[in-house]
Amino acid sequence: MTNEAIPNLTAFDEAALDKAFAALEAQAREAARALDGEAAVEAFRLEWLGRKQGRLNEVSGRWLKAAPPEAKKALGVRFNALKAVVEGLLDAALGAGPSEAALKAEAIDITLPGTRRLIGAEHPITRTMIEIVNVFAALGYSVGVGPEVETDYYNFECMNFPPGHPARDTQDTLVVAGQERRPLRDRLLLRTHTSPVQMRTMEQQPPPVRIVIPGKVHRNDAADATHSPIFHQVEGLCVDTNITFSDLKGTLDHAMKALFGSTVKTRFFPSFFPFTEPSADVQISCIFCGGKGCRKCKQSGWIELLGCGMVDPAVFAFAAEKQPAYDAKQISGFAFGMGVERIAMMKYGISEIGQFFAGDMRFLSQFV
Ligand code: PHE
Repeated sequence: MTNEAIPNLTAFDEAALDKAFAALEAQAREAARALDGEAAVEAFRLEWLGRKQGRLNEVSGRWLKAAPPEAKKALGVRFNALKAVVEGLLDAALGAGPSEAALKAEAIDITLPGTRRLIGAEHPITRTMIEIVNVFAALGYSVGVGPEVETDYYNFECMNFPPGHPARDTQDTLVVAGQERRPLRDRLLLRTHTSPVQMRTMEQQPPPVRIVIPGKVHRNDAADATHSPIFHQVEGLCVDTNITFSDLKGTLDHAMKALFGSTVKTRFFPSFFPFTEPSADVQISCIFCGGKGCRKCKQSGWIELLGCGMVDPAVFAFAAEKQPAYDAKQISGFAFGMGVERIAMMKYGISEIGQFFAGDMRFLSQFV
């Protein structure tokens, strides 16, 4: 409703003043009752309390000026009372919070289902890595880790790679830039395998050692369906007195059966790694055709899965620089290393390694 204009006052006796102020108070109360929203409250404040055009300003200007001296006090008392009422109405309107309409618009229906949050899950690589580690943990192995940015010494030199070995070429290895002024052994690179953690472990503790080392490795490889410049390995190292190749075979045969099922067979092929002698590649009977021959195993019935061998005495010699108990005349050991992606691809029937790193929820949610 619009307020009536402020009338001129002609009578200044108490009764006339009471009546005039009561009329204004009634108007203010009615206006305040209709207030809905911040803008309306601000309009009410300007209308009644505005310094220049506010109604109270007009009242004090016109009525007080027109009043005879003896009525000024009675008028002033009533004016102050009215002002207090208007200010109270304003305070109440400001403190009242949102109007009923606003509340209704904001109200939530608690019977509706809530917004669903996706629950995180282990990435298939993490899951496979943990599964492999657990197989060895059950055999009494502990778990070790090492840095992904490694020195040439740990990645290559102490692992018995000769100086001109092709893996040391930047064609194969990603190196940290600007290292040329350092001695070769201190230059930093992204580790190409988890094997450097073998040496880091032996430097920290005398034999016996039984450890598995899960981790990320990098190679300067072009990506294709089965290669990625970043991938994961699980390394293993066992050093004690009288460790033989039979122990290596029995351990890995057990591990492959634990990972792929008890009907899986293993076979060991001669191979070469600078840090093991003799070295072998381990093949498992094809888990897709059971060994009969299929497309997956290229009709051979076997799938190559990991590298292994007996720790080369030259590696023990490097370890003995810090821990003399690694004396190749007293102890022996075996080591192995396997690619986690390759194992996960076989276990879950994945044909593109890139799927692991693409972050596509349609792929990942299969593993929840
Ligand atoms: N480090 C080797 C690789 O990355 C794997 C391996 C580990 C082989 C331990 C033998 C012993 O290919």
